Amino acid sequence: MNMDIVTSVTALRERLQGEPNNVFVPTMGNLHEGHIDLIRIAKPKAACTVVSIFVNRLQFGPREDFERYPRTFENDCDKLRGAGVNVVFAPDEKEIYPEPQTYVVEPSDLQHILDGAFRPGHFRGVATVVLKLFNMVMPHAAIFGKKDYQQYLVLRDMVRQLALPVEIIPADTVRAADGLALSSRNGYLSPAERAEAPRLYALLRDARERIARGERNFQRIELETMAQLSQHGWNPQYVAVRRRADLQTPAAEERGLVVLAAAYLGKTRLIDNIEVTL
Ligand code: PAJ
Repeated sequence: MNMDIVTSVTALRERLQGEPNNVFVPTMGNLHEGHIDLIRIAKPKAACTVVSIFVNRLQFGPREDFERYPRTFENDCDKLRGAGVNVVFAPDEKEIYPEPQTYVVEPSDLQHILDGAFRPGHFRGVATVVLKLFNMVMPHAAIFGKKDYQQYLVLRDMVRQLALPVEIIPADTVRAADGLALSSRNGYLSPAERAEAPRLYALLRDARERIARGERNFQRIELETMAQLSQHGWNPQYVAVRRRADLQTPAAEERGLVVLAAAYLGKTRLIDNIEVTL
């Protein structure tokens, strides 16, 4: 099957004209099985599956890894072809930001907590580029991974609050056999760090177990999990037991929870989360 690669908005609109049903998977490339799984979810829902590859400067902080973010375009295209993608949109920076982006999407309170507290402006950058990509692709639905749980909620709420005609479909986190959530940033890990990395998810599973067994002192669970990470050489930013709906602090009787964590292992920042349903 033919896969079309377009780099301009004009060519994209031309290619998609008359397509009755696009399902969209936005990415920053360096694709792994987690991304490919989103495509697997998209395929049966779509007449046309569209994937974008764009490393969005707007969502990176000044001291973050924008410059060294892995760019593996040829390899990505091979994977997308193998997955049966119809259209790849791979714009350069001028195509998306021909002028300074002074009109932006300012997300709700969600943007200031958890990852947002440690990455100021990150979710504004994500929401702005995703709205822009939606306007270019005009998809019926778009798939986002729950690996980036807060990102998924920010975009779900953006679509609801701005009445965008796009269905947001969440996808479960794809993991390596040892539990580590797949991520483009895993490639930064040294062999020793890679061997240590599954501990993050292992500790999240322990936290889920404690909650499922009835423990309700969430703060204690958070602090003890952070301490365990520190003991093993991690530098944790947060471990937080939150209400799934809006990531606020849950009441004791809350039944839909998620435990989220972000921690540095060496120079690499890893995030993960686990849902807990009581
Ligand atoms: P990126 O990190 O490339 O991720 C693209 C999509 O893949 C996101 O929806 C992300 O949640 C999902 N994903 C990544 N790892 C996953 C895993 N292990 N299992 C399941 N899904 C996974 O997220 C972004 O790019 C950007 O912020 C973007 C939305 C493209 C805006 O620039």
